[in-house]
Amino acid sequence: MPKVRGRSLRVLYDAETIARRNVEMAAEIKAAGYRNLLVISILKGSFVFAADLIRALHVAGLSPEVEFISLSSYKTGTTSTGKVSLVRDVETDVKGRDVLLVDDILESGRTLAFARNLMLKRGARRVAIAVLLEKPGKLAQPLKADHVGFVCPDLFVVGYGMDVAHAFRELPFVGVVEDKPVRTGRAGVRGSRARSRDGWLRRAAAGSHRGSRGRVGYRSRREP
Ligand code: IMP
Ligand code: MG
Repeated sequence: MPKVRGRSLRVLYDAETIARRNVEMAAEIKAAGYRNLLVISILKGSFVFAADLIRALHVAGLSPEVEFISLSSYKTGTTSTGKVSLVRDVETDVKGRDVLLVDDILESGRTLAFARNLMLKRGARRVAIAVLLEKPGKLAQPLKADHVGFVCPDLFVVGYGMDVAHAFRELPFVGVVEDKPVRTGRAGVRGSRARSRDGWLRRAAAGSHRGSRGRVGYRSRREP
């Protein structure tokens, strides 16, 4: 088990597995026949996946343009507002274009629904979605990804661009930080577990970032 920041990480998808899947996804994307393709990477979580996917697209024989948008589902804190905000917009006019939105994870679908609606409102001809991971059964609204790397268990994952408080993004694999919740006497087991996990993840991520605005929660973090 790899150790990072003094924590053991359980690997869910290793670098080779991801690389192989990226090649397959690029072939799927090519076969979908997008025209005048604009790839939009949703920052920050998708930056590693997008970087690998666009190079796989090149190898597959596609020549997309590539853009970035930064979205956040949470302003501050760890409580879900369910509201997505636009942090940084694309610079490209998407009118009449085929757009491929690239994100790390499809969970509630709020982030991607927001991006998709925005592009459609701006007159994109076709808006498709590619995600590395999909956590099934968690959609807050109907949304279907056109290209899915892996159907992922309902765990908080890190690596390959995904983070806890901006830590662990550098990992070449997708994994789970092994958690060792400490049960405390009085609170109910569920409550104490959730609390200890929350604090534990915060500490695991803290390291050199101590003093920065901590916005970490186990289930609640959505900052891209
Ligand atoms: P949603 O589909 O709008 O709920 O949000 C998906 C976003 O939440 C992803 O783009 C990630 O930034 C973040 N997210 C969801 N689950 C995880 C996780 O397990 N690890 C890291 N980020 C996550
Ligand atoms: Mg994200």
